[in-house]
Amino acid sequence: MKTIKLNDLYFDPFIDKDEITEIVKYLAWQVKSDLPKYEIPLFVGILNGCFLFAADFIRAYQGDCEVSFVKLASYSGTSSTEEVKYLLGINEDLTDRTVIILEDIIDTGSTLQEIYNIFRDKNVKELKVVTLFFKPEVFKKELPINYIGKSIEDKFIVGYGLDYNGLGRNYPSIYQLTTKPKMKNIVLFGPPGAGKGTQADLLKEKYHLVHISTGDVFRFNIKNETELGKLAKKYIDAGDLVPDEVTIDMLKAEVEKNNDANGIIFDGFPRTASQATALDEFLTSKDLQIDAMIALEVPEDLLEERILERGKTSGRSDDTDEEKIRNRFNEYNTKTAVLKDFYEAQNKYFGINGVGSIEDITKRISEVFETL
Ligand code: IMP
Ligand code: MG
Repeated sequence: MKTIKLNDLYFDPFIDKDEITEIVKYLAWQVKSDLPKYEIPLFVGILNGCFLFAADFIRAYQGDCEVSFVKLASYSGTSSTEEVKYLLGINEDLTDRTVIILEDIIDTGSTLQEIYNIFRDKNVKELKVVTLFFKPEVFKKELPINYIGKSIEDKFIVGYGLDYNGLGRNYPSIYQLTTKPKMKNIVLFGPPGAGKGTQADLLKEKYHLVHISTGDVFRFNIKNETELGKLAKKYIDAGDLVPDEVTIDMLKAEVEKNNDANGIIFDGFPRTASQATALDEFLTSKDLQIDAMIALEVPEDLLEERILERGKTSGRSDDTDEEKIRNRFNEYNTKTAVLKDFYEAQNKYFGINGVGSIEDITKRISEVFETL
């Protein structure tokens, strides 16, 4: 079982169908054993939500019985409204009958109140209530509930007859609303020589993330001559910076391509507060967010040593010139300072000690990642 999406919301697997079967069987057995031996109860299902529960309950019930349904509506969206309407009644004569209500879920109890009101003047011999699910934290009424299949916390559930805005009733098991957005997205930051690329590759493997490096995205779009690539190239050829909108649009396309990833590592973007804001806006529109900015922190003298060492073999001119290295650090520090403030204000900045073995550093990042 995996997370499902209904309209705009995500629901995680909560109660599987075998557990439901057990609960339903046990309810049917309890109801039967509490009734006088030859009593023929009238089961009244409360539509729509109860249709699967009622069908299974009635089949599990070992004895003669009659079955009817009423339809009430009390719900729109994921929060209970106080207003409950009586829509469709029963035509049977209920005088001296044992009436057993079958409810899928009792939340605030408003629906239950209505049921008691409706059946009060029907001269029944006995009225009992069976509910598959019950939310004790929100139940506000002093009304008896005779049988409860399972008490659950106050979180919206769907499946097995229960819906969210009409969807989800057909799932054979129960799913629970998740508050967390589905993906864990991070911005990975680190000064030149901090080992960011290495760590990004390892994290990508470990958590099945998608690594979006702005540099790669640019090269891909330019090479494949996409509309955005051509646009970006115009600016680059003219020696201008590519405007944020163009970069953001390219990233959007990348994010869209990877809708079902566990998360995204953004690398090389954002670099300015306005880019960070634009990224937030875009992710919010997709019900996503940046969960953390993870910045590798390494003292500059150590970095300089590493880069100079690399310069001996890399052939990169900017890896051998101390002044150029200093400039890169300065540029990095100015940029991070802004972004650090931006994400710190959202409690999302995590500085990671970037000195140590590759494994140690991966471990440190993982510890942060797993708490997100
Ligand atoms: P109550 O009147 O607040 O007790 O709500 C009862 C009705 O609200 C149920 O019959 C359902 O139709 C709906 N409901 C309450 N909680 C949930 C839920 O978690 N998922 C789906 N429907 C719910
Ligand atoms: Mg209902």
